[in-house]
Amino acid sequence: MKKILIDCDPGIDDALAITLAHGSSEVEIVGVTTVGGNVSLPKTTANALALREFLGFPEVPVVAGSPGALLRRWIDASAVHGDSGLGEARLPAATLPPANGHAADFIIDTLAAHPGEISLVAVGPLTNVALAVRKEPRVTEWAREFVILGGSFTRGNYSPAAEFNIAADPEAAAIVFSAGWTVTMIGLDVSRTALATGAVVDQMREMGRLGTDLLVPCVEFYGMVTADEGPAIHDACAVAYLIDPTLIQVEPAVVEVETMGRFTSGMTVVNFHLGERTPNALVGTSIDSGRFWELVLAAYARVAAT
Ligand code: BDR
Ligand code: CA
Repeated sequence: MKKILIDCDPGIDDALAITLAHGSSEVEIVGVTTVGGNVSLPKTTANALALREFLGFPEVPVVAGSPGALLRRWIDASAVHGDSGLGEARLPAATLPPANGHAADFIIDTLAAHPGEISLVAVGPLTNVALAVRKEPRVTEWAREFVILGGSFTRGNYSPAAEFNIAADPEAAAIVFSAGWTVTMIGLDVSRTALATGAVVDQMREMGRLGTDLLVPCVEFYGMVTADEGPAIHDACAVAYLIDPTLIQVEPAVVEVETMGRFTSGMTVVNFHLGERTPNALVGTSIDSGRFWELVLAAYARVAAT
Protein backbone atom coordinates (compact mmCIF):
# COMPACT_ATOMS: atom_id res chain seq x y z
CA MET A 1 0.00 0.00 0.00
CA LYS A 2 1.40 3.39 -1.04
CA LYS A 3 1.75 5.87 1.83
CA ILE A 4 0.66 9.42 0.97
CA LEU A 5 0.90 12.76 2.71
CA ILE A 6 -1.71 15.25 1.50
CA ASP A 7 -1.06 19.00 1.63
CA CYS A 8 -4.37 20.76 0.97
CA ASP A 9 -6.76 23.69 1.41
CA PRO A 10 -10.19 22.07 1.79
CA GLY A 11 -11.95 23.24 -0.33
CA ILE A 12 -14.66 21.21 -2.03
CA ASP A 13 -12.45 19.25 -4.41
CA ASP A 14 -9.81 18.80 -1.70
CA ALA A 15 -12.50 17.14 0.44
CA LEU A 16 -13.48 14.88 -2.43
CA ALA A 17 -9.79 14.04 -3.03
CA ILE A 18 -9.28 13.16 0.65
CA THR A 19 -12.38 10.96 0.51
CA LEU A 20 -10.97 9.21 -2.55
CA ALA A 21 -7.64 8.57 -0.82
CA HIS A 22 -9.35 7.27 2.30
CA GLY A 23 -11.60 4.93 0.30
CA SER A 24 -8.83 3.55 -1.89
CA SER A 25 -7.29 0.21 -0.99
CA GLU A 26 -4.12 1.24 -2.85
CA VAL A 27 -3.09 4.19 -0.68
CA GLU A 28 -2.85 4.95 3.02
CA ILE A 29 -3.02 8.57 4.26
CA VAL A 30 -0.15 9.17 6.72
CA GLY A 31 -0.82 12.85 7.30
CA VAL A 32 -2.86 15.83 6.18
CA THR A 33 -1.30 19.28 6.20
CA THR A 34 -3.28 22.44 5.61
CA VAL A 35 -2.58 25.76 3.97
CA GLY A 36 -4.59 28.94 3.56
CA GLY A 37 -6.01 28.91 0.06
CA ASN A 38 -9.60 28.41 -0.98
CA VAL A 39 -10.61 29.74 2.44
CA SER A 40 -8.57 30.93 5.41
CA LEU A 41 -6.18 28.60 7.24
CA PRO A 42 -8.46 28.29 10.33
CA LYS A 43 -11.25 27.15 8.00
CA THR A 44 -9.16 24.78 5.86
CA THR A 45 -7.82 23.23 9.07
CA ALA A 46 -11.29 22.97 10.64
CA ASN A 47 -12.53 21.31 7.46
CA ALA A 48 -9.64 18.82 7.39
CA LEU A 49 -10.32 17.95 11.03
CA ALA A 50 -14.07 17.58 10.43
CA LEU A 51 -13.44 15.38 7.40
CA ARG A 52 -11.01 13.20 9.33
CA GLU A 53 -13.68 12.37 11.91
CA PHE A 54 -16.60 12.18 9.49
CA LEU A 55 -14.72 9.81 7.20
CA GLY A 56 -13.19 7.89 10.10
CA PHE A 57 -9.39 8.17 10.24
CA PRO A 58 -8.92 9.99 13.58
CA GLU A 59 -5.46 8.48 14.13
CA VAL A 60 -3.95 10.33 11.16
CA PRO A 61 -2.28 13.65 12.11
CA VAL A 62 -3.69 16.89 10.72
CA VAL A 63 -1.16 19.73 10.92
CA ALA A 64 -1.77 23.38 10.08
CA GLY A 65 0.73 25.32 8.03
CA SER A 66 1.01 28.67 6.37
CA PRO A 67 -1.94 31.06 6.47
CA GLY A 68 -0.95 32.70 3.22
CA ALA A 69 1.57 33.16 0.45
CA LEU A 70 5.28 33.72 1.00
CA LEU A 71 5.27 37.25 -0.34
CA ARG A 72 1.75 38.13 -1.43
CA ARG A 73 -1.60 38.83 0.05
CA TRP A 74 -3.86 35.83 0.36
CA ILE A 75 -6.47 35.47 -2.41
CA ASP A 76 -9.82 34.11 -1.40
CA ALA A 77 -11.84 31.53 -3.36
CA SER A 78 -14.88 31.40 -1.08
CA ALA A 79 -17.04 32.54 -3.99
CA VAL A 80 -16.27 29.14 -5.53
CA HIS A 81 -16.09 26.97 -2.39
CA GLY A 82 -18.63 28.69 -0.13
CA ASP A 83 -18.09 30.58 3.08
CA SER A 84 -17.08 27.46 5.02
CA GLY A 85 -15.03 26.08 2.11
CA LEU A 86 -17.24 23.01 1.75
CA GLY A 87 -20.17 24.42 -0.20
CA GLU A 88 -23.50 23.40 1.26
CA ALA A 89 -22.03 20.43 3.16
CA ARG A 90 -22.57 20.65 6.91
CA LEU A 91 -20.29 18.22 8.71
CA PRO A 92 -20.26 17.92 12.51
CA ALA A 93 -17.46 20.06 13.96
CA ALA A 94 -14.39 18.05 14.88
CA THR A 95 -13.85 17.02 18.49
CA LEU A 96 -10.11 16.39 18.12
CA PRO A 97 -7.52 19.16 17.65
CA PRO A 98 -4.76 19.41 15.06
CA ALA A 99 -1.31 18.11 15.97
CA ASN A 100 1.20 20.64 17.27
CA GLY A 101 3.83 22.14 15.02
CA HIS A 102 3.93 23.55 11.51
CA ALA A 103 2.98 21.68 8.35
CA ALA A 104 6.39 22.32 6.77
CA ASP A 105 8.15 20.63 9.70
CA PHE A 106 5.67 17.76 9.63
CA ILE A 107 6.41 17.24 5.93
CA ILE A 108 10.16 17.27 6.62
CA ASP A 109 9.99 14.97 9.64
CA THR A 110 7.59 12.49 8.07
CA LEU A 111 9.59 12.12 4.86
CA ALA A 112 12.86 11.99 6.81
CA ALA A 113 11.55 9.15 8.93
CA HIS A 114 10.67 7.05 5.85
CA PRO A 115 12.99 8.05 3.01
CA GLY A 116 11.79 6.87 -0.39
CA GLU A 117 8.52 5.54 0.99
CA ILE A 118 6.05 8.41 1.11
CA SER A 119 4.39 10.10 -1.83
CA LEU A 120 3.72 13.78 -1.29
CA VAL A 121 0.66 15.23 -2.98
CA ALA A 122 -0.11 18.95 -2.86
CA VAL A 123 -3.54 20.17 -3.94
CA GLY A 124 -3.46 23.72 -2.63
CA PRO A 125 -1.09 26.69 -2.95
CA LEU A 126 2.49 25.41 -2.65
CA THR A 127 3.53 27.55 0.34
CA ASN A 128 4.04 24.71 2.85
CA VAL A 129 6.01 22.61 0.37
CA ALA A 130 8.22 25.56 -0.57
CA LEU A 131 8.97 26.23 3.10
CA ALA A 132 9.78 22.55 3.61
CA VAL A 133 12.18 22.28 0.66
CA ARG A 134 13.88 25.55 1.60
CA LYS A 135 14.36 24.46 5.21
CA GLU A 136 15.41 20.91 4.35
CA PRO A 137 16.34 20.41 0.68
CA ARG A 138 16.70 16.65 1.19
CA VAL A 139 12.89 16.48 1.21
CA THR A 140 13.23 16.33 -2.57
CA GLU A 141 15.29 13.13 -2.27
CA TRP A 142 13.19 11.59 0.49
CA ALA A 143 9.84 11.87 -1.29
CA ARG A 144 8.95 8.72 -3.18
CA GLU A 145 7.25 11.02 -5.71
CA PHE A 146 5.70 14.46 -5.70
CA VAL A 147 2.40 15.16 -7.41
CA ILE A 148 0.49 18.43 -7.54
CA LEU A 149 -2.87 19.59 -8.75
CA GLY A 150 -1.96 22.91 -10.24
CA GLY A 151 -0.97 24.80 -13.31
CA SER A 152 -1.98 24.47 -16.90
CA PHE A 153 -0.38 24.59 -20.33
CA THR A 154 -3.48 25.94 -22.04
CA ARG A 155 -5.51 28.40 -19.98
CA GLY A 156 -6.02 29.40 -16.39
CA ASN A 157 -9.01 29.65 -14.08
CA TYR A 158 -7.87 32.37 -11.66
CA SER A 159 -6.76 34.48 -14.61
CA PRO A 160 -6.54 33.76 -18.33
CA ALA A 161 -2.97 32.57 -17.80
CA ALA A 162 -2.89 31.17 -14.27
CA GLU A 163 -4.45 28.33 -12.35
CA PHE A 164 -5.55 29.17 -8.78
CA ASN A 165 -3.04 27.13 -6.74
CA ILE A 166 -0.09 28.61 -8.63
CA ALA A 167 -1.57 32.12 -8.79
CA ALA A 168 -2.14 32.09 -5.02
CA ASP A 169 1.61 31.78 -4.36
CA PRO A 170 3.72 32.00 -7.53
CA GLU A 171 6.99 32.43 -5.63
CA ALA A 172 6.35 29.25 -3.67
CA ALA A 173 5.53 27.41 -6.89
CA ALA A 174 8.73 28.71 -8.49
CA ILE A 175 10.74 27.40 -5.53
CA VAL A 176 9.05 24.02 -5.69
CA PHE A 177 9.49 23.57 -9.46
CA SER A 178 13.17 24.48 -9.29
CA ALA A 179 14.02 22.36 -6.24
CA GLY A 180 15.75 19.60 -8.20
CA TRP A 181 13.07 16.90 -8.11
CA THR A 182 10.51 15.85 -10.67
CA VAL A 183 7.16 17.53 -10.12
CA THR A 184 4.26 15.59 -11.54
CA MET A 185 1.96 18.41 -12.57
CA ILE A 186 -1.66 17.45 -13.03
CA GLY A 187 -3.24 20.66 -14.23
CA LEU A 188 -6.46 22.08 -15.53
CA ASP A 189 -5.82 20.59 -18.98
CA VAL A 190 -6.48 17.20 -17.39
CA SER A 191 -8.92 17.96 -14.59
CA ARG A 192 -11.28 19.93 -16.78
CA THR A 193 -11.99 16.87 -18.88
CA ALA A 194 -13.24 14.66 -16.02
CA LEU A 195 -16.55 16.24 -15.05
CA ALA A 196 -18.99 15.20 -12.33
CA THR A 197 -22.02 14.84 -14.60
CA GLY A 198 -25.57 13.92 -13.60
CA ALA A 199 -24.86 10.18 -13.84
CA VAL A 200 -21.96 10.55 -11.40
CA VAL A 201 -23.98 12.63 -8.95
CA ASP A 202 -26.87 10.15 -9.11
CA GLN A 203 -24.50 7.44 -7.90
CA MET A 204 -23.23 9.69 -5.12
CA ARG A 205 -26.81 10.28 -4.00
CA GLU A 206 -27.17 6.56 -3.29
CA MET A 207 -24.25 6.55 -0.86
CA GLY A 208 -26.06 7.20 2.43
CA ARG A 209 -24.78 10.00 4.65
CA LEU A 210 -21.53 10.22 2.72
CA GLY A 211 -23.57 11.16 -0.32
CA THR A 212 -26.24 13.33 1.23
CA ASP A 213 -24.08 15.16 3.80
CA LEU A 214 -20.83 15.57 1.90
CA LEU A 215 -20.51 14.52 -1.74
CA VAL A 216 -23.72 15.83 -3.28
CA PRO A 217 -23.90 19.20 -1.45
CA CYS A 218 -20.24 19.76 -2.35
CA VAL A 219 -20.55 18.89 -6.02
CA GLU A 220 -23.83 20.73 -6.57
CA PHE A 221 -22.40 23.87 -5.00
CA TYR A 222 -19.23 23.60 -7.09
CA GLY A 223 -20.96 23.79 -10.46
CA MET A 224 -24.12 23.19 -12.40
CA VAL A 225 -24.77 19.50 -13.01
CA THR A 226 -26.56 18.34 -16.15
CA ALA A 227 -26.57 15.12 -18.13
CA ASP A 228 -23.39 16.08 -20.01
CA GLU A 229 -21.80 18.75 -17.85
CA GLY A 230 -20.73 19.24 -14.26
CA PRO A 231 -17.90 20.66 -12.21
CA ALA A 232 -14.34 19.38 -12.51
CA ILE A 233 -13.21 17.76 -9.25
CA HIS A 234 -9.64 18.92 -9.83
CA ASP A 235 -7.82 17.70 -6.73
CA ALA A 236 -9.19 14.18 -7.01
CA CYS A 237 -7.26 13.82 -10.29
CA ALA A 238 -3.91 14.19 -8.49
CA VAL A 239 -4.87 11.57 -5.91
CA ALA A 240 -6.23 9.30 -8.66
CA TYR A 241 -2.85 9.51 -10.41
CA LEU A 242 -1.15 8.25 -7.25
CA ILE A 243 -3.59 5.37 -7.02
CA ASP A 244 -3.41 4.40 -10.69
CA PRO A 245 -0.86 6.27 -12.84
CA THR A 246 -2.21 4.61 -15.99
CA LEU A 247 -5.30 6.84 -15.76
CA ILE A 248 -3.39 9.96 -16.76
CA GLN A 249 -1.00 10.37 -19.65
CA VAL A 250 2.07 12.42 -18.65
CA GLU A 251 4.89 13.90 -20.72
CA PRO A 252 8.28 15.23 -19.61
CA ALA A 253 8.65 18.99 -19.79
CA VAL A 254 10.55 21.95 -18.43
CA VAL A 255 8.13 24.02 -16.36
CA GLU A 256 8.86 27.53 -15.18
CA VAL A 257 6.57 29.70 -13.12
CA GLU A 258 5.96 33.29 -14.13
CA THR A 259 6.26 35.50 -11.05
CA MET A 260 6.46 38.92 -12.67
CA GLY A 261 4.09 39.16 -15.61
CA ARG A 262 1.54 41.92 -15.45
CA PHE A 263 -1.08 39.68 -17.03
CA THR A 264 0.59 36.31 -16.57
CA SER A 265 1.68 36.11 -12.93
CA GLY A 266 1.23 32.53 -11.74
CA MET A 267 1.35 31.04 -15.22
CA THR A 268 3.11 27.70 -15.59
CA VAL A 269 5.21 28.04 -18.73
CA VAL A 270 5.42 24.46 -19.98
CA ASN A 271 8.03 23.57 -22.56
CA PHE A 272 7.59 20.11 -24.04
CA HIS A 273 10.41 20.77 -26.51
CA LEU A 274 13.26 19.70 -24.32
CA GLY A 275 16.23 19.93 -26.64
CA GLU A 276 19.29 19.55 -24.41
CA ARG A 277 17.40 20.52 -21.27
CA THR A 278 16.64 18.12 -18.45
CA PRO A 279 12.93 18.01 -17.60
CA ASN A 280 11.88 19.09 -14.11
CA ALA A 281 8.31 17.89 -14.53
CA LEU A 282 5.99 15.25 -15.82
CA VAL A 283 2.95 17.11 -17.06
CA GLY A 284 -0.46 15.50 -17.34
CA THR A 285 -1.85 15.76 -20.86
CA SER A 286 -5.01 13.61 -20.81
CA ILE A 287 -7.11 11.43 -18.52
CA ASP A 288 -9.31 8.40 -19.09
CA SER A 289 -12.37 9.97 -17.50
CA GLY A 290 -14.48 6.81 -17.64
CA ARG A 291 -11.93 4.82 -15.64
CA PHE A 292 -11.31 7.82 -13.38
CA TRP A 293 -14.94 7.93 -12.30
CA GLU A 294 -15.09 4.14 -11.89
CA LEU A 295 -12.13 4.37 -9.52
CA VAL A 296 -13.50 7.37 -7.62
CA LEU A 297 -17.03 6.00 -7.21
CA ALA A 298 -15.74 2.60 -6.11
CA ALA A 299 -13.62 4.29 -3.43
CA TYR A 300 -16.57 6.41 -2.30
CA ALA A 301 -18.79 3.33 -2.12
CA ARG A 302 -16.17 1.68 0.11
CA VAL A 303 -16.23 4.66 2.47
CA ALA A 304 -20.04 4.71 2.46
CA ALA A 305 -20.15 1.03 3.42
CA THR A 306 -18.04 1.51 6.55
C1 BDR B 1 -7.57 24.27 -7.65
O1 BDR B 1 -7.87 25.53 -7.04
C2 BDR B 1 -8.67 25.33 -5.91
O2 BDR B 1 -9.72 26.24 -5.88
C3 BDR B 1 -9.14 23.91 -5.95
O3 BDR B 1 -9.27 23.38 -4.64
C4 BDR B 1 -8.06 23.21 -6.71
O4 BDR B 1 -7.01 22.79 -5.86
C5 BDR B 1 -8.16 24.24 -9.03
O5 BDR B 1 -7.66 25.31 -9.78
CA1 CA C 1 -7.34 22.58 -3.48
